[in-house]
Amino acid sequence: MHGSFIVGLNEMIINKFDKEIWLEILEAAGFEPNYRPISNQEVNDDEALVLIKASIKKLNLGERAFGEMFGNYWIKSFAKEKYFAFFAAYKNVRDFLNDINVMHSRLTANLKNPLPPRFEITWENPQTAVLFYQSKRQLGHIAVGLLKALGDYYHEEISVFKVDANQIRILFKM
Ligand code: HEM
Repeated sequence: MHGSFIVGLNEMIINKFDKEIWLEILEAAGFEPNYRPISNQEVNDDEALVLIKASIKKLNLGERAFGEMFGNYWIKSFAKEKYFAFFAAYKNVRDFLNDINVMHSRLTANLKNPLPPRFEITWENPQTAVLFYQSKRQLGHIAVGLLKALGDYYHEEISVFKVDANQIRILFKM
């Protein structure tokens, strides 16, 4: 997995909680205390998933609440600053979603083993999109949190529902 995801996680835990909690998460996940994820490098998938699971446990959150907190932070604090150009390239949530696979492929192209998530989008009607999430990482709860934050970013009123592990329904109010 591209390191930015875990760099954002590290940053969120330290900014919203504190460094001690991050160190406890590292310990619970079997990492050295001086572990530093690097944004443009690959983090082994198993290690990334262990860190995410250890964070959910340590923060005493369910997957859903964690997905919302992480998605919110990752989009509105982390990506907003680091990946500004990607947001600026799209003018609203619909535009963004129509290009989401190209964007993830482009961002991970420099990795040795790129395996970006894929989203198949079906428009049930102009106000309703269903996203079929395809990734062996099974981070649908995070996808929901990221989508809700994306609506906030573009000041759009959207409702996001996780239908099941691989399907997300988005209702646009406008
Ligand atoms: C400017 C906004 C965004 C940027 C820059 C971005 C970038 C990235 C990057 C670099 C990764 C790591 C991918 C990998 O190594 O395979 C990732 C993962 C992910 N992204 Fe995005 N992303 C953005 C918005 C979104 C949104 C709105 C969604 C909602 C559907 C989303 C869903 C995911 C998911 C679920 C993953 C976890 C990896 C997986 O499931 O396989 N991203 N993103």
